[in-house]
Amino acid sequence: MRIQILPSLLAADQGALAKDVSRAASSGADALHLDVMDAHFVPNLSFGPAVVEMCRRVEPGFYRHVHLMMTRPDLYLEKFVSAGAQTVQVHIEADCDLHAVLARIRALGARAALAVNPETPIVRVMPYLDECDELLVMTVHPGYGGQAFIKECLPKIAEARALRPQLDIMVDGGVNAETGVLAAAAGANQFVAGSHLFKMADMALGVAALRDACEKAFAGSHV
Ligand code: DX5
Ligand code: ZN
Repeated sequence: MRIQILPSLLAADQGALAKDVSRAASSGADALHLDVMDAHFVPNLSFGPAVVEMCRRVEPGFYRHVHLMMTRPDLYLEKFVSAGAQTVQVHIEADCDLHAVLARIRALGARAALAVNPETPIVRVMPYLDECDELLVMTVHPGYGGQAFIKECLPKIAEARALRPQLDIMVDGGVNAETGVLAAAAGANQFVAGSHLFKMADMALGVAALRDACEKAFAGSHV
């Protein structure tokens, strides 16, 4: 499977967002991860479709993953896809009809993904897996960047990988070269990293090192 590295724009310099989008795009990363927070599903606010649109304008060829930490993502799907979201990730804990939401995301022409919080068991996503192009296993409680990776989430990655050997499985939260390896060994193939990558003087070196470590761990892992 393809290993993908995704810098999270939440950790960028808020005073120089466009510059940091370009920095991420030229780092060798595979895609940009955009964290949308509604101050209800999580106790924080981040940004909306206008920032997704800005990313498309600044770096049109840089793939955009949009992580909707929202209680009602169903009300905003059209806005985010028309702003340039190419994968839309919604939480299993959201308050909406998820079968309808996943179908709508695909109908709008984007890839559909479900995200699961640390305390949510994988069994909850099983009825939806055939409707998902990706699964996001959170390794922190969502809402803030810069938190510590929760190692207790690792068995959930292995469980999801055993259920779906070909599915793109992403980890998000507290990912660095050390914790990324643990997640890759458990079966994750997509790695979001915010503070770890943005704090590097040379993001390209960080992306290459993370990719190399995760590729090796993934290859020698779960199967
Ligand atoms: C957390 C967000 C993450 C966050 C990751 O709610 O979903 O994407 O930006 O940040 P780091 O890598 O700093 O933990
Ligand atoms: Zn995220």
